[in-house]
Amino acid sequence: MGEKSFQVAVVGATGAVGNLMVKVLEERNFPVKGLKLLASARSVGKTLPFRGADIPVEELKEDSFQGVEIALFSAGGSVSKKFAPIAAAAGCVVIDNSSAFRMDPAVPLVVPEVNPDALVAGPGIIANPNCSTIQMVVALKPLYDAVGIRRIVVTTFQAVSGTGKRAIEELRGQVEALVQGKEIPRQIYPYQIAFNCFPHIGAFLDNGYTEEEMKMVNETRKIFNDPSIGVCATTVRIPVYYGHSEAVNIETRTPLSVEKARELLAHAPGVRLVDDPSQLAYPMPLDAVGKDETLVGRIRLDPSVENGLAMWVVADNIRKGAASNAVQIAEALMARNLL
Ligand code: A2P
Repeated sequence: MGEKSFQVAVVGATGAVGNLMVKVLEERNFPVKGLKLLASARSVGKTLPFRGADIPVEELKEDSFQGVEIALFSAGGSVSKKFAPIAAAAGCVVIDNSSAFRMDPAVPLVVPEVNPDALVAGPGIIANPNCSTIQMVVALKPLYDAVGIRRIVVTTFQAVSGTGKRAIEELRGQVEALVQGKEIPRQIYPYQIAFNCFPHIGAFLDNGYTEEEMKMVNETRKIFNDPSIGVCATTVRIPVYYGHSEAVNIETRTPLSVEKARELLAHAPGVRLVDDPSQLAYPMPLDAVGKDETLVGRIRLDPSVENGLAMWVVADNIRKGAASNAVQIAEALMARNLL
């Protein structure tokens, strides 16, 4: 791949996803020449380890991007809205984990296993899709290519880490309070999340769906470049720390047997088939944590429609659903000589 290496910045480096972006850059041995860690003024004075050194966290400012070539953003939508265009104007390739630019027609929305051809050269913004969308399209890509997909019905079971560090602490605090018979602390979610679940992720919209549900509809169509796919999503927050699970039903354009679907998925990039009910082998969040693969199992015919298939899809939401996909986008740009 040559000896080229890059000046990289991570915006939101002290957050759940940003922190992992730093770890994934190290783990995947991304060619980093220099690393700049950016967060709010609150975090100045902290350091984060990278390749044996302690790197100081700096305050994000308008002039933070001088000399930076790749900027990975995960500090929320409002920070991205303001600073991603500033970084792009300073010559950076921005890989943005927020939803701020995903549906902008000028911004590529990329999962490297699915639509790497959407990547373009030069400074600008590339959007990292929503975590639930990423793992679903990784699992559906080989089936889409083989037989086409007319319609998707999906229900998600999403971990609290998707909301951020403070939500992880909220679940932990609630579990402790329950065990000790104390009053349940609650700040982040509208209801108790410990030993509960709610079908509510993101704000409710006029059509009765939530923002998260509509992200799955719109982003799936954009990534497959196929506005004809029907998608109906129900997104549910569950009391799991890491790892999103999804029950996915698809209606394919032409018939697809369970055996053929298994064979396609067994060879698909980024997928690990875990599908042997006789051995109680099916994907679970605890198995997906710490991995970059999307686990697929419970593949069976859906007899309620003509060409129906049902499956269960699990991935680490802050790795493949966020940090790892962002670093893989940078790797794909590099592999295509677009950096
Ligand atoms: P900080 O730790 O200094 O608040 P999470 O999604 O896990 O809550 O993390 C959010 C990340 O975004 C953190 O790194 C946080 O930094 C960063 N962040 C939030 N608001 C700002 C801001 N206005 N400027 C820079 N970084 C921000």
